[in-house]
Amino acid sequence: MSVGWAQKVPALRRKTEFRLMMSGMALIINLASFRGCAAEPGIHRRRALLIWRRRRLWILGSPSAPRNEDAVSHPDHDRSTRPGKGAEVAFGAWLLVGIMTTASATEIPPAERRSGYDTMGAETQAMQRDDTTNPGMLWVQDGADLWEKVPSQAKLACAGCHGDATQAMRGVAARYPAFDERSGGPIDLETRINRCRTDNQSEAPYAQESRELLAVMAYVATQSRGLPITPVPDPRLGAARERGRALFTARMGQLGLTCAACHDDNHGHKLGAATIPQGHPNGYPLYRLEWQGLGSVQRRLRNCMTGMRAEPFAAGSSEALDLELYLMSRAAPLPIETPAVRP
Ligand code: HEC
Ligand code: HEC
Repeated sequence: MSVGWAQKVPALRRKTEFRLMMSGMALIINLASFRGCAAEPGIHRRRALLIWRRRRLWILGSPSAPRNEDAVSHPDHDRSTRPGKGAEVAFGAWLLVGIMTTASATEIPPAERRSGYDTMGAETQAMQRDDTTNPGMLWVQDGADLWEKVPSQAKLACAGCHGDATQAMRGVAARYPAFDERSGGPIDLETRINRCRTDNQSEAPYAQESRELLAVMAYVATQSRGLPITPVPDPRLGAARERGRALFTARMGQLGLTCAACHDDNHGHKLGAATIPQGHPNGYPLYRLEWQGLGSVQRRLRNCMTGMRAEPFAAGSSEALDLELYLMSRAAPLPIETPAVRP
């Protein structure tokens, strides 16, 4: 007896949705790693990934992972994957099915763009607003000291060439990444600062994510606090920005998620304990309670990509830069909030 496509298709759809739901559950259960730090993969994350792989085999019905055997040897795994276990998990999983199957992502119009500040709790907002409680101000202070400090090679301090940062650096962070004549592509603020280190001070560049680099970046970016993001309209940045947009809407990682599915189409919804923000980079470098420290936008992107079960873009890679360029134009004209505070 032959079964026609008309009968097969709904069954196939149900099966696909079910698989997606299970993937969604795996993500919900792994939210800790989504919110956690990609740079320091901990034991929990590795364990979660292992469970995820096993579960995936089970979901896909691989003969190498027979269901019963798996259930016996990993009782916790079985419990956590059984549908309808708890209303909360099921709801979260269904939201994720929605996120995963969202087809059209439309960019948020400028007038409707909202900072991540708006979706935070009142306490975290208050912490950001008050410079005496904002932990990011410690880095800004360090940055101010480094700005004045004459480096060891007896060259000029940053201040020696640029003078008063409140004048010279005002508005700079609001228009970065900018166009770089030398590379013929975009350049971000940290690379620009490091170029002054090497070319103008004959010093070694600050290490990626080092306390010094974050401090100087925070000090420079704080001079743009309150100013609207104004991307450089340079047409030579067009191609890179488009590449960034393509990355934002591309399916990535084991879950096949896109950035846009969460940040364009499902912002404002709860994902576990977190509210999905619109995902704007208007407060970096910023202090994350989760990190217990200051971090760059690149670090934040690595967190989201790890949550998507995707291989994060390497720090300083052209993909990361293209994405940042697009994110800044997508965030305009939100005001710069550096040093912002986030959960
Ligand atoms: C010997 C002089 C000199 C020193 C010292 C110096 N810079 Fe620069 N800096 C420059 C010049 C020249 C430019 C390019 C100006 C331009 O493009 O209009 C520049 C550009 C920049 C820019 C980009 C500004 C923009 O509008 O795009 C930043 C940010 C910057 N410097 C930060 C720093 C920091 C931080 C330090 C200290 C670690 C520093 N500079 C040290 C000379 C210097
Ligand atoms: C499954 C949903 C989801 C996906 C997919 C996702 N993110 Fe996120 N993103 C979040 C959540 C949730 C947060 C906030 C977490 C928190 O602070 O508690 C966040 C935070 C951010 C922020 C920080 C915003 C701020 O106010 O500082 C940026 C930027 C961002 N995401 C960009 C991206 C990019 C780019 C991608 C694709 C590579 C991506 N996200 C993929 C859920 C997602």
